[in-house]
Amino acid sequence: MGRKFFVGGNWKCNGTADQVDKIVKTLNEGQVPSPDVVEVVVSPPYVFLPVVKSQLRPEFQVAAQNCWVKKGGAFTGEVSAEMLVNLGVPWVILGHSERRSLLGESNEFVGDKVAYALSQGLKVIACVGETLEQRESGSTMEVVSAQTKAIAEKIKDWTNVVVAYEPVWAIGTGKVATPAQAQEVHAGLREWLATNVSAEVAESTRIIYGGSVTAANSKELAGQPDVDGFLVGGASLKPEFIDIINAAT
Ligand code: G3P
Repeated sequence: MGRKFFVGGNWKCNGTADQVDKIVKTLNEGQVPSPDVVEVVVSPPYVFLPVVKSQLRPEFQVAAQNCWVKKGGAFTGEVSAEMLVNLGVPWVILGHSERRSLLGESNEFVGDKVAYALSQGLKVIACVGETLEQRESGSTMEVVSAQTKAIAEKIKDWTNVVVAYEPVWAIGTGKVATPAQAQEVHAGLREWLATNVSAEVAESTRIIYGGSVTAANSKELAGQPDVDGFLVGGASLKPEFIDIINAAT
């Protein structure tokens, strides 16, 4: 298969300077597999990116949780892809369901963001996922395919894209998808990529799962053939994030 396991930690809008110091200390002291086995990317809020980047163990990388859709300028409150590149931040999370729902980010807007971020040299964790209502109505694959299509229409090179399947109903709820549920959607997304992009992209693109991942459920989820890692929220702020990273082995 040859896809390196990928574990992202999305800290969301959390942390004080003292808490960040403690989390970074835990990350730096954790026993984890070699970077040849697992790629680890932590995503603090913007304001902590420089300090986390400067203090984090060198084999771990950092990501922003968002960036603007075009070159910077008169866009009060936004942070541009160019600024992240200038800071030496290599990754950015885009299309998170909390931004899609709370800030009205459309599929097309997310597609444009992914394209612009890649054009500036960033690597992207692109989030897709359905709501509980969409799952219960049987439209999960229709929804996540449309979200992925909106990205595929705007980019040509998938080398620096990781797709994160994050069922909205599992985010922050403790209701983690079963391994079978995650595998079904991941396999469906990989099939979509094979059919609509290329067999090579389908085979090489990491598709990671997010939504109530914990140390207790990560090993079984990681055992699914099309689950290439995780995007972890709440548990990434806790020492158990080290256990989740070790689910790679
Ligand atoms: O981006 C990851 C996040 O949405 C998952 O959150 O707290 O359910 O792990 P959580």
